[in-house]
Amino acid sequence: MEKIVSFCKKRGFVFPSSEIYGGFSSSYDFGPLGIELKNNIKKYWQDSMKQEDNIVGLDSAILMNPMVWQASGHLTAGFADELVECKKCHHRFRKDFAKKNCPDCQGGLTVPRKFNLMMRTFVGPVEEKASEAYLRAETCQGIYLNFQNILQTMRMKIPFGVAQIGKSFRNEINPKDFLFRTREFEQMEMQWFCHPKQASGFFDSWLKKRLKWYAQIGLKVRTTEVLKKDRSHYAKKQIDIEAQFPFGWKEIEGIHNRGDWDLSNHSKHSKQDLRYYDEITKQKYFPYVIETSVGVERLFFALLCSSYEEIKGGRSEKSIKEAETVLKLDKKLIPFKAAIFPLVRNKPEIVKKAKDVFNLLKPFSIYYDETGSIGKRYRRADEIGVFWAITIDFDTLQDNAVTIRNRDTMEQKRIKIKDLIECFKKQFFPMD
Ligand code: GAP
Repeated sequence: MEKIVSFCKKRGFVFPSSEIYGGFSSSYDFGPLGIELKNNIKKYWQDSMKQEDNIVGLDSAILMNPMVWQASGHLTAGFADELVECKKCHHRFRKDFAKKNCPDCQGGLTVPRKFNLMMRTFVGPVEEKASEAYLRAETCQGIYLNFQNILQTMRMKIPFGVAQIGKSFRNEINPKDFLFRTREFEQMEMQWFCHPKQASGFFDSWLKKRLKWYAQIGLKVRTTEVLKKDRSHYAKKQIDIEAQFPFGWKEIEGIHNRGDWDLSNHSKHSKQDLRYYDEITKQKYFPYVIETSVGVERLFFALLCSSYEEIKGGRSEKSIKEAETVLKLDKKLIPFKAAIFPLVRNKPEIVKKAKDVFNLLKPFSIYYDETGSIGKRYRRADEIGVFWAITIDFDTLQDNAVTIRNRDTMEQKRIKIKDLIECFKKQFFPMD
């Protein structure tokens, strides 16, 4: 865990937020490499949704009418954790994190009480009950509110889906474990509206699709069906997709059958008819919703844990003795596909050629590095998951070819500069 956290900071993936002021509880900033990885994860998810038939996108507001959260059950039903307080040091904990005694001083604990997780704020200049609002706790509520808008404007027919990526907020009692549990995080959620009779079949097919997606990004996952007593308040059925973290297998995505919980409750509270009219059967009904919901930062963290490898003594005979790190991230997600290295930097013809190659390949997300020995540059590239290290050497000036070194096998190949773009397309974008 400490290794990943310090690696994230050292290599520009994740910085503690407000660091110069001593940080701020469980808030993080994504650095130049982190944001590349995060964007690639989001893009790959969005692309996979776009490839499905009948899925449209949405970007709904974070701040909504507070009635939304009354109707969804987040202010009333089960969206609360049990809070206990230490009678000695007065630290507060989620009941399931504290067991019998205070984890900090072993003091006795108070009787648990419910603590609602909605993050409260005020809109407008006056801080009073009437201006109270909430930061959304899940992105999908915006999708339900726009159900009729989307039906009408896009002439959608059931079954269809709406996919959205956006920030959510929860006032977690004990945010912890780095990016795993924070108060501000992003979700990638898809809501599939279907006839109630088809919900069970779609639940299974969406679970299969999501598992295939994880296989495609090289992340080992497993599934756990959540028992009724532990399910989210809206879920008729819930299967968690879990990945391995330094502290064990934990949920990264939930697949939920939400039934008609959301649409029927919003209908009731808003007094708007949110039922679907089936033109063939001439029937009106509340569709069931199958939801897939994954946290971006949790997935990001799981991917780093699974791809971070330390090789003691290094990977090649020429290596220095200390451990070498290789980030074996899937090449679809890596922040940089390739790095361009002139073998030496005191030979203007080689530097010029290297810059020409850099300019040629710029659209593919690459970087240029001429500092340090070639071995050091290889190691820096391996550490951040760069898939190809491309070296421009003395021979390049004669044969217009470069050496490409593969991150995982360390195999080196000579490739003509004129063939590079084609090679990039084949290697990184085989579907295009
Ligand atoms: N709309 C359904 C929903 O929000 P959830 O199981 O509460 O379901 C879905 O959340 C995903 O969001 C989780 O699997 C997790 O990846 C992420 N998530 C939830 N709370 C989080 C937190 N406090 N910090 C980071 N990620 C979180």
